[in-house]
Amino acid sequence: MDKLIIKSRIRDFDVEFVDDFSFVDKLLDLKNYVVIVGQTVYKHYKNTIFSRFPKEQLIIIKLDEKRKTLDTVMKIYKKLLPLSSKKNLTLISFGGGINQDVTGFVASTLYRGINWVYIPTTLLAMADSAIGLKTSLNHESYKNVLGTFYPPSKIYICTDFLKTLKKTDYLSGVGEIIKFMLMKKNPVKNLDGSINKIEELKLNNNKKFIINVIKESIEIKKSYMEGDEFDLGKRNLLNYGHELGHALEATSNFAVPHGIGVIIGIIFANLVSVHRGWIDEKLNKKINRLLLLPNIKTIKLKKEYFNYEIILEKIKKDKKRISDKLPLVLPKNNFELVKIIDLDFDEFGTTLHKLIKIIV
Ligand SMILES: NC(=O)c1ccc[n+]([C@@H]2O[C@H](COP(=O)([O-])OP(=O)(O)OC[C@H]3O[C@@H](n4cnc5c(N)ncnc54)[C@H](O)[C@@H]3O)[C@@H](O)[C@H]2O)c1
Ligand SMILES: [Zn+2]
Repeated sequence: MDKLIIKSRIRDFDVEFVDDFSFVDKLLDLKNYVVIVGQTVYKHYKNTIFSRFPKEQLIIIKLDEKRKTLDTVMKIYKKLLPLSSKKNLTLISFGGGINQDVTGFVASTLYRGINWVYIPTTLLAMADSAIGLKTSLNHESYKNVLGTFYPPSKIYICTDFLKTLKKTDYLSGVGEIIKFMLMKKNPVKNLDGSINKIEELKLNNNKKFIINVIKESIEIKKSYMEGDEFDLGKRNLLNYGHELGHALEATSNFAVPHGIGVIIGIIFANLVSVHRGWIDEKLNKKINRLLLLPNIKTIKLKKEYFNYEIILEKIKKDKKRISDKLPLVLPKNNFELVKIIDLDFDEFGTTLHKLIKIIV
């Protein structure tokens, strides 16, 4: 059996890699369960997966970043509360990071916590968010500001789901994996290998290879989470690229997907490091040319997404901000990541200007 164990102070759980959809048989054996799935995933897998579940145990909802809210959570509570199964209810969610966040929030709050099985269906969720132990909701214009720490009790990863993913959504996952390639041990020494790996991953045609890259990403993420499950220290470094990335998701009205925003955020953070003399300019140019810039091309980036005042406003709202200045995770020396909390607005503005010149 192909399993990884994730340890958590809340509960340990395993991530099982499965070859095909026959794992659904095991879900059907569960007693009191309800399946939660977004409309898009439902449509793609209606005949192969969802028609196998009894209709009354299936909740199909509209899901997108605007609906990752308490409103959606309350609609789900409304359907679950009348059921006779209470604490013994298991939620089963099929979907990307958005469904994970919504179902995870419901599972963690209903009856102070019920069982939850998660089947990630996007590359981003398989390689990154699924094992994050966190649930997050957006509130008004604030992203991921409500949430809980609550791992699923079991995760099944089946890369067959990736066949129906839109190219942009697949590349969003690639973006988050690029971040892990820059966070692994000796990232500079391993740079050429990482560049080749990402090129092959983008082809989305070699199942065994994709599974290995997902496993590697999970191991890297685990190494940052170990000993800091609740985000008080080194786990914060996983936010590399996310400060500006989250802001761009918002200013583009989510036309820039999460992982692409992360790549742009990494380019930005690295520019600050070059300016401070913390990383070599030549190395940075190589990373941009071969690893980062080729992977943001699928999105038409408009200048208006990068408006200084609006971006600054968004970054000021980031939940990780703890001082008057701005927080940023950035590389130092041999690409060792550090978190600073004193990026001033001038340095932010001049770097944003440089970034626009490079990418728009
Ligand atoms: N909780 C965490 O630890 C954590 C970590 C990272 C990211 N996130 C969150 O995850 C979200 C991004 O996740 P995502 O990239 O998976 O996005 P997503 O869940 O929005 O999925 C992207 C799109 O792909 C569609 N889709 C999903 N699976 C499909 C499939 N197999 N075939 C066809 N279409 C499919 C979805 O309907 C959606 O339109 C963000 O909201 C981010 O904040 C959470
Ligand atoms: Zn992310």
